[in-house]
Amino acid sequence: MPCRARNYGHAAIIQPPHGQSSWRRGATMNTIQAIWTGSAGMMILLASGCNSNNANDEAPADPATIEQGKQIFRFDTFGDERQWSDTWRLHEVIPAAVDPVTALAVGLKVDAEALPAAVVKGIQDGSVDLKSPATTVALLKLNAVVGLVGKVETVSGKDTLTRVGVTCALCHSTVDNSFAPGIGKRLDGWANRDLNPGAIIALSPALSDAVKVVYNSWGKGKYDPRFNLDGKNGPQAIPPAYGLKGIHRITSTGDGDDVAYWNRYVAVTQMGGQGSFSDSRLGVSVTYGTLDLVSAKLPALQAYQLSLEAPAPPPGSFDVAAASRGKLVFSSRGQCISCHSGAQFTDANMRLHPVSDVVSEPEPGGAPSYASRSATKMYRTAPLRGLWQHAPYFHNGSAATLGDVVTTYNTRKALGLSAAEIADLTEYLKSI
Ligand code: HEC
Ligand code: HEC
Repeated sequence: MPCRARNYGHAAIIQPPHGQSSWRRGATMNTIQAIWTGSAGMMILLASGCNSNNANDEAPADPATIEQGKQIFRFDTFGDERQWSDTWRLHEVIPAAVDPVTALAVGLKVDAEALPAAVVKGIQDGSVDLKSPATTVALLKLNAVVGLVGKVETVSGKDTLTRVGVTCALCHSTVDNSFAPGIGKRLDGWANRDLNPGAIIALSPALSDAVKVVYNSWGKGKYDPRFNLDGKNGPQAIPPAYGLKGIHRITSTGDGDDVAYWNRYVAVTQMGGQGSFSDSRLGVSVTYGTLDLVSAKLPALQAYQLSLEAPAPPPGSFDVAAASRGKLVFSSRGQCISCHSGAQFTDANMRLHPVSDVVSEPEPGGAPSYASRSATKMYRTAPLRGLWQHAPYFHNGSAATLGDVVTTYNTRKALGLSAAEIADLTEYLKSI
């Protein structure tokens, strides 16, 4: 097996040159494995008989590393309080205006397992006031708000939120609602499609009205991870962070060879964590802070995500007989399998697709092509496992249901499927 450089997210080292859609597999680093150790700038070369050509293929990491990655995924802000507090001042807005009812309404989730028995009882008997922002501060003090990390200190005898930051779990975890809507056990890797990140950011008093209009235009389950860099507005459906093992192209445009590429991108350029990210293909080179609080965490963070499997469809959630007929449509008349091939239903490890191949462009609302704003200018065939869980579909969320996906393909690709074939194919997609 060929072996390529593993860099935990430093695109500049191993990404294909601008304009070239992919490396020729095995063209580089046949026997030498390079590990980039981060912005400290040290490259260690190890002679090794590699048995994998991509970090995303590796055997599961040891349980301790995966556990470490889980803690990072859930609780590490990478020092991004510099953005969410020092610049955006959300630690002032939350105690002034965000009671738990409001927090749940913008899609924030509460980790029921972090709540002590007295708080659980108080929520049940109504003695905990869910209309008081002080309760939000209390929940932050308990570390119970998924994806938000608050520092609560005693100021003049009162619990006071002095800083707040966000973690990966903000967008890529939800809860199972086992306690109440929005309150339950964490489901890591599940996109939080209730979350309205734009509305949360727009609470900041530090942003101009024009910028707030953009943030407020995104809506639930959407976030534009390039707006703050290129100024263009085209929000993306927040995708799952599970089911990525074995896939060598990360994000809907396949910008990264491994999960860590994008983790570095988001941690620094979006969350505002302390560290650096650069990619000459994007013309982006950003360093925040004087410390690097990102690089050392990327291996464990990646290992955790690769350990997250796409959830199986709940029993009874699809028609078994129709799904097995739909499987045939998928591989024959629907021609789906020509791109959605292999165990993960994607040809991403072999090729990306030009914009003309996809049925999800032109973008809704006249937004600029998302591919045009990416490093590859192309799209990755989306992996399909766990589809039942994460409506809406396509990078821009332009298909509300799986039925809409199939009808869109049928029309745009002139497949000529009958109503029965469309229904069967839809059931099959629910079963994947
Ligand atoms: C504010 C919301 C938000 C936060 C916080 C966030 N992400 Fe994402 N994430 C997104 C969006 C939107 C995309 C889609 C980007 C695209 O496809 O171009 C994405 C894409 C991804 C992907 C690619 C999935 C795939 O199918 O290839 C992974 C992996 C991921 N994020 C992991 C993380 C990790 C790890 C963190 C923390 C370091 C994080 N994200 C923080 C919104 C977020
Ligand atoms: C020419 C290659 C190609 C063919 C053929 C193809 N797809 Fe796709 N598919 C893609 C690409 C590329 C994407 C990602 C588009 C995007 O992100 O907007 C995608 C996305 C999807 C998604 C959205 C997944 C998600 O997570 O949002 C579904 C569902 C899907 N395809 C199903 C099908 C079905 C069903 C067929 C057959 C009728 C089919 N595809 C045929 C390339 C293809």
